[in-house]
Amino acid sequence: MISFPSFFFLFFFFVPLSCFSSLVTLSGNKTIVSDGQEYECGFFQPDNLTSHWYLGIWLKEDPIRTSLWVANRDNPLTTPNGTLDIIDKELVLVDKDNARVWSAKLSREVDKSRMVAQLEDNGNLVVKSSKHSEEEYSWQSFDTPTDTLLPQMRLGINPNTKNHIVLKSWNSSIDPSSGYFSLGIEDESYEIFVIYLQHPHAENRYRSIVWNGFQFGDMPPILKQLDAPDSFVMTTYQSSKSRLTLTPDGDYEVYMWVQEETTWQLSWSTTQDSCFKDARCGSYGFCSKNTIPRCHCLQGFHPKNDVIESGGCARITAPKCKEDDKFMILKNMKLPENPDDTLHASALEACESLCRRECNCTAFARIKLQNGQNTDHRCITWIGELHDMQNYTVGGQDLHVRLKEPVPTQTQMMMTEIAGEDQLFAVMDLSTIVEATDNFSSTNVLGRGGFGIVYKGILPNGKEVAVKRLSNNSSQGTFEFRNEVTTILNILHKNLVRLLGCCCEGSERILVYEYLQNLSLDRFIFVDEARSRLLNWATRFRIINEIAQGLSYLHNFRDSPIIHRDLKPSNILLDTNMISKISDFGMAKILQSGQTEAETERLVGT
Ligand SMILES: *[C@@H]1O[C@H](CO)[C@@H](O)[C@H](O)[C@H]1NC(C)=O
Ligand SMILES: *[C@@H]1O[C@H](CO)[C@@H](O)[C@H](O)[C@H]1NC(C)=O
Ligand SMILES: *[C@@H]1O[C@H](CO)[C@@H](O)[C@H](O)[C@H]1NC(C)=O
Ligand SMILES: *[C@@H]1O[C@H](CO)[C@@H](O)[C@H](O)[C@H]1NC(C)=O
Ligand SMILES: *[C@@H]1O[C@H](CO)[C@@H](O)[C@H](O)[C@H]1NC(C)=O
Ligand SMILES: *[C@@H]1O[C@H](CO)[C@@H](O)[C@H](O)[C@H]1NC(C)=O
Ligand SMILES: *[C@@H]1O[C@H](CO)[C@@H](O)[C@H](O)[C@H]1NC(C)=O
Ligand SMILES: *[C@@H]1O[C@H](CO)[C@@H](O)[C@H](O)[C@H]1NC(C)=O
Ligand SMILES: *[C@@H]1O[C@H](CO)[C@@H](O)[C@H](O)[C@H]1NC(C)=O
Ligand SMILES: *[C@@H]1O[C@H](CO)[C@@H](O)[C@H](O)[C@H]1NC(C)=O
Repeated sequence: MISFPSFFFLFFFFVPLSCFSSLVTLSGNKTIVSDGQEYECGFFQPDNLTSHWYLGIWLKEDPIRTSLWVANRDNPLTTPNGTLDIIDKELVLVDKDNARVWSAKLSREVDKSRMVAQLEDNGNLVVKSSKHSEEEYSWQSFDTPTDTLLPQMRLGINPNTKNHIVLKSWNSSIDPSSGYFSLGIEDESYEIFVIYLQHPHAENRYRSIVWNGFQFGDMPPILKQLDAPDSFVMTTYQSSKSRLTLTPDGDYEVYMWVQEETTWQLSWSTTQDSCFKDARCGSYGFCSKNTIPRCHCLQGFHPKNDVIESGGCARITAPKCKEDDKFMILKNMKLPENPDDTLHASALEACESLCRRECNCTAFARIKLQNGQNTDHRCITWIGELHDMQNYTVGGQDLHVRLKEPVPTQTQMMMTEIAGEDQLFAVMDLSTIVEATDNFSSTNVLGRGGFGIVYKGILPNGKEVAVKRLSNNSSQGTFEFRNEVTTILNILHKNLVRLLGCCCEGSERILVYEYLQNLSLDRFIFVDEARSRLLNWATRFRIINEIAQGLSYLHNFRDSPIIHRDLKPSNILLDTNMISKISDFGMAKILQSGQTEAETERLVGT
């Protein structure tokens, strides 16, 4: 095998310059090898079936010649014979019949007779003047990556050429022709640099992952910001030969070379990340790659309809603008798209007060940017709805979201703790409830009981709810309230009424439940004879069955069975489809595990 430098050396010095016709001729076994024997450039065949040959670069040690760069990706040769030449300020590849299959512009006029093509030990194929090897290259393969970035390759704007360097996927694993995805860096929104993915048949590009001053999303920190903010360079990862490759399916993967096994080993990939190509979960929704379903609402927001993906989330509390609005910190987040403004703000407090001052400011984040040798802290603010967010385990950024809530009382804080991570549950403020129920208007009363009055309410987002306002002197004190909230929060069954939120302001104790259109069973059985006739035996039997299922779920609930103790027709509610759901767990008493009998401290009416 002839390595190129020596080959060229011979060629260059023993052939008269005037007769020198080409830069280098390559064929099946004739390749260019870098000085340190690291990389090799030559013809390869991605599949053994078709006679498609490509000029490419691979690791010299790699037995399967995993291609790291391809010249003539869209125009294969039929035999592994071709010549690199310089014609009219262009580097060209011609096949054995002298037909041009690929070309690239040289950066300047060159004296062809003095030029050499050389493969460097970082995998960069360069064309330069042999005399001044330190001078700027007339051309280099690193300026036009295929689907792979190697250490020292750039992504984003090349400050020298002003070209936008992107990766373009192969069409398939055995077809290097330009595929469906491209990956680039874009200063899409002021100074958040995002890696985007574009599918030529899709209108939108995906904002895949966002720069946080250190890394993109949760990708290992193999890209470093360069002299210009929108210019990045790939670095070695864990002091090993590494590569970042865009797959034909639009995923990207980080590989490390394992010398002992002479193989590229996958060390990070987006293939398992269901949020990666599109983290859209509607307004105020965020995507989580490890959960099913993947969409969640930010705390303090709840789904507008059953599917967050289509409807997004809405605030539970009516938006107001107060100086004392709180900000909730979300860690490891992919920042939302379309920020409103980016300002210099070195301190976090300054950033927060910038957002606080603007009534419409919904969130802010403080980001770090490298600009040459300088580190800049910037404050980014968002106005209006927040879109396209994701949470990560590592990486991402702190996002501060404005909460339109009064300063929480101690009880409220306790309730927030109870609410915990469950995004479907909300602690609401009294003014929202007052608004929803028309100030507890008597026209909205659904029912009265020992515990208090139940009102129909309509939340600011239009959702109908049943609001249970506990009376001050009902048997249900703070103990029962907490009991009911903590218990019901975790009880999710199709035949049990779902708790959506609670309010605990001053002396008020309010529970907010889902609203069931057809109200309670007692109205059917005892109140309205016409409706009573609607309940045929089949329906009654089904309802009995459903109640039994609900009770069975309660009785077998996790480690602590729940006994209802107040089951009666007025506590059986019916939804639009006449599916029954048991309500009012206020009287429930959680049995300790292993306890089959319990003494009740309070008398129960039923
Ligand atoms: C093409 O390459 C093959 C394999 O290296 C070689 O045997 C053959 O002679 C070459 N043909 C021409 C026309 O150069
Ligand atoms: C190419 O190399 C293989 C083995 O390395 C050898 O069998 C074959 O004859 C070589 N072909 C040419 C044209 O040199
Ligand atoms: C091509 O053939 C070589 C040797 O016969 C084999 O190692 C390799 O896996 C084949 N590649 C494909 C894509 O079939
Ligand atoms: C890419 O692959 C698809 C299907 O595998 C094929 O239809 C298409 O022609 C290919 N494109 C090119 C440019 O080869
Ligand atoms: C803030 O919101 C109000 C009401 O939605 C709107 O009229 C106003 O234009 C917004 N201000 C800015 C600066 O966007
Ligand atoms: C993202 O948030 C969801 C919902 O709160 C949570 O279940 C999940 O564990 C979080 N994922 C990560 C990676 O933090
Ligand atoms: C609600 O009604 C009470 C009296 O029933 C009244 O004192 C209060 O001002 C009303 N609140 C609102 C917001 O209308
Ligand atoms: C409870 O009592 C307080 C005053 O003691 C009163 O302001 C409040 O409206 C009462 N709440 C209910 C639900 O009756
Ligand atoms: C409790 O409410 C009843 C009316 O339902 C009222 O007569 C009684 O005075 C109240 N007790 C206290 C301690 O507020
Ligand atoms: C239940 O509610 C739905 C929606 O309000 C209504 O169309 C239906 O007639 C009700 N069914 C009965 C049996 O009242």
